[in-house]
Amino acid sequence: MKLLVTGGCGFIGSHFVRLALARHRDIRLVNVDRLTYAGRGRNLADIERDSRYCFLKADVASSAMFQILHRHRPDAVVNFAAESHVDRSIHCAADFLKTNTLGVQNLLDAARAAGVRRFVQISTDEVYGSISGSGRARENAPLLPSSPYSASKAAADLCCLAAHRTHGQDAVITRCTNNYGPYQFPEKMIPLMITNALHDIPLPVYGDGQQRRDWIHVEDHCRGIFLALEKGTAGGIYNFGMGSEPPNLMIVLEILKILGKSETLIRHVKDRPGHDRRYAVDTTKARKELGWTPLMNFERGLAATVEWYRENTAWWLRLKDAAFRKFYRQNYGRPS
Ligand SMILES: NC(=O)c1ccc[n+]([C@@H]2O[C@H](COP(=O)([O-])OP(=O)(O)OC[C@H]3O[C@@H](n4cnc5c(N)ncnc54)[C@H](O)[C@@H]3O)[C@@H](O)[C@H]2O)c1
Repeated sequence: MKLLVTGGCGFIGSHFVRLALARHRDIRLVNVDRLTYAGRGRNLADIERDSRYCFLKADVASSAMFQILHRHRPDAVVNFAAESHVDRSIHCAADFLKTNTLGVQNLLDAARAAGVRRFVQISTDEVYGSISGSGRARENAPLLPSSPYSASKAAADLCCLAAHRTHGQDAVITRCTNNYGPYQFPEKMIPLMITNALHDIPLPVYGDGQQRRDWIHVEDHCRGIFLALEKGTAGGIYNFGMGSEPPNLMIVLEILKILGKSETLIRHVKDRPGHDRRYAVDTTKARKELGWTPLMNFERGLAATVEWYRENTAWWLRLKDAAFRKFYRQNYGRPS
């Protein structure tokens, strides 16, 4: 099989590229990434020399995608490329719409023109919005995005479904809950808290910290994506999640405990505007139709992730550069 992956130098994409090449000897893989602040070639340093792998720098929203897909003619496209940080989307929504929505429409058109057999869109459970009570969103739940990020992803999902209905294009959508694990950019909650704690910098917790997310290890998500690629139904949507929802504050306390740091590092800061209180998905369909099941228990996965950031300081230290520090100050205040 020949795969074209976009955004393969980011957090989830790099895990997927590594998993695909490790598990499937017969795969050839083209990774297209614009290398934004969140994408790093070094995330895949261990496979750069694999003759089955090739990297191309390009923007998914550009016309270059037509030439690339025409030249490489992959069997399938798996689209991870995105602007992915909700806080940034609140400050600059246009970048999110350009990559996350127009970029997806451009990729769908280019894939169709090149005769690509399957298009897998990596979406998010955030498209369902905040889930009240103890319910869980199924794949047919209404789309009620709260942030410019989730709105741009919901719009992309609709573009995929429209391409399927209008053109008969084979598109599959995956909607996963919050991921954690190695190589996640240190602006996202779990690595932000770990790296701040390692430096004894205050840990900013939004509002009361009682927002609940269903955290899943990135490798469990990537196994699900591969199953959706192989076994998913054309026009199908698949939720992935663990089914446990620890409040954010509890995760922060657990990170401090693992690192032996004081709880006095916690700073409650003004809540994010439009902050969803709870995400929860029903994963029955992925379990039944794809035979998927998550393997990593959250406590074990979190401890291993903390250990990875502790051992790989060189990976994240440079990322906390001037631009990141500026953004951090603007949104969370100057660390005291
Ligand atoms: N992180 C999560 O918890 C989570 C959960 C569910 C779904 N998702 C989805 O998974 C996908 C990957 O998320 P992530 O956390 O790995 O994001 P990330 O920000 O770590 O990586 C995004 C990658 O896309 C690349 N990229 C950005 N704009 C591009 C463009 N215009 N053209 C080409 N490449 C571009 C970046 O350089 C980077 O390598 C996204 O689509 C996101 O919406 C993420």
